[in-house]
This record gives sequence, C-alpha cells and structure tokens, in this order.
Amino acid sequence: MSKIELLQVGSYPDWDQHPLDQTYQMHRYFDAPDRSAFLARVGGTIRGIATRGDLGAPSAMIAALPRLEVIAIYGVGYDSVDLNAARARGIVVANTPDVLTGDVADLAIGMWLSQRRRMVEADAWVRSGDWQAKGGFPITRRAFGKTAGILGLGRIGRAIGERLAGFGMAISYGSRTAKQTPGWTHVADPVALAAASDVLFVALAATDATRHIVNAAVLNALGPEGMLVNISRAANVDEAALIAALADGTLGSAALDVFDGEPALNPAFPTLPNLLMQPHIGSATLETRKAMGQLVRDNLAAHFAGKPLLTPVV
Ligand code: 8YV
Repeated sequence: MSKIELLQVGSYPDWDQHPLDQTYQMHRYFDAPDRSAFLARVGGTIRGIATRGDLGAPSAMIAALPRLEVIAIYGVGYDSVDLNAARARGIVVANTPDVLTGDVADLAIGMWLSQRRRMVEADAWVRSGDWQAKGGFPITRRAFGKTAGILGLGRIGRAIGERLAGFGMAISYGSRTAKQTPGWTHVADPVALAAASDVLFVALAATDATRHIVNAAVLNALGPEGMLVNISRAANVDEAALIAALADGTLGSAALDVFDGEPALNPAFPTLPNLLMQPHIGSATLETRKAMGQLVRDNLAAHFAGKPLLTPVV
C-alpha cells in the first residue's frame, strides 16, 4: 500500500525527519528550486501539510493541494497558516501548545534578567580585559521586586507570570477580558499597562487585531527606565517605533527573540546598544523540540486514523 503523501514546508531535525520518512511520502517543498512547479507536480496527491510556526501555510499553498485534509504545525503560533482558507475547505489544523510553554517562558525571564543586569555587556567587559584595565563594570538596576506587565495571558503569558511571582514582582496583565489569576491586576489598555510596568512582556498570539499593538504610545508609556521583552511575534510590535524609542532613549531597553522578516533584520537593530537579540530560540531546547515533533506526528497519525486531533487549532 502506498504511503500517505505530505508536503513538508521546512526542515526538521533528523529525529523527526526519520520517523516521518518511514511513515509518509514526504515532499520537501523547501528543497524545491521552483516551488510553484513543485506544487503543480505533486500537489494533486498530497493529503497533509507538515509545517512550522515560523513558516506556516499560505492560501496559495493550500489552494494548490486539492486533496489536503490536515495541516500540522511544529510550533504554537498559527499566524502564518491561512485559517480561513483551511476552514473554508474543512481542513483541520493542529499546533503544538503546552509542550513548549515552559521553555518560551524561561527565555522571556532569562532575557529580562540578562538585559536588566546587562550580563552580555558585562561578559564582554571581562573578555576584553576592560575589567583589569578600567575597573568594575558600571552598576546596573535591580530586576526583582518591581512591576511587570504581561500583554496576552495565554499559556505562555501565564507561565511568565508564574515565574515573575517568584521574583516578588507586582504583576499586571493585558487581555480583552479579565481572567482567573492569583491576584494579578487586569489592565485592558496597553498604554496604561505599560505605564504601570517596569518591564512589559509581549506574549500575544499574532492576529490582525494585535498587529503593532505595541506602538509609540505604549513605548513612551513604558519609558526611559522601562524594558520591552518580546517572545511572541514581531508583528505585535511596531519595529520602526521601537527602533526610534531605543535610539533616542524614550525606551530604556528591549529584548527580542522575534523579528520582522527574520532571519533578516532591520539593519538598525544591531546598532542599538540597549537591545538584546536572540535568534527565535524560545522553544529551541532538545526536550521541547523532541516533544513538538512527537506531537506533530501524533496529530497526523490521529487524523489519518480517523480520530480527532490532539491539539486542534481548527
Ligand atoms: C517554532 C514558534 O517552534 O512555536 C512557535 O510558533 O515560533 C517557534 O517556537 C519555530 O518556529 C519552529 O521552527
């Protein structure tokens, strides 16, 4: 019996690639020199898409697959999948929530602490010999015991809050509606949330409604002592406004794991001394990536066995 055919949108680690290759006929879209011609050639027999949070499945790709039944995302973000196109054709969509929550929240906390205590610059101070030549590294600012805002209180935002509680932070959160929390303050307006925060974490799913929700007014409210930490999607932040605010001191500092057009960056970003940058590594631990890959395979197996998806988006 011939294998079920899947379109693979991006690369996976070998430990995921091998079991997928054993079970399915994997068509490697990302290796195709002419991707349109590739879809025209193989699209007629493909029943599933295996993609990634950073790559998604655009409407043109979905339209090129007349037998498509399921889209499985290696990642929690589904903003790059055309959900309307999927819904219109009864195509089910799964992502990989929960298994990556802790690592993404850990990175948010790590970036906050590192940036607040300027640990990257301090490491350079030691390595360069400046410690010997110039003396002690400049004093920094306390992180613990202050106020934190969390924009978006989904799984990751809530995990960030739980971690912040251990640092004695007064926690506020921004969401459309108030949620059950251990005494955190609901502040619906992003500007008011920023004004009340020493550090603002962006943990929102990226949607049309959240695009550039962190704008110049939010950054101004966060202020010259404030810090922005984004582990969600670049689209939630107006990057031009962020660059201007960091450059002129309107905003004290920022820490970003996601960038518009990544891995390409706005060329202004590397020039900013008050910015910590990470290469979209929120979920990038061995344990989490193995769990994500397993969940992708489990969702695909469930679908093709006629069972409900384990972690459905649509
Ligand atoms: C993905 C992400 O794992 O979960 C998401 O949506 O953005 C990442 O954590 C990454 O894009 C996979 O390559």
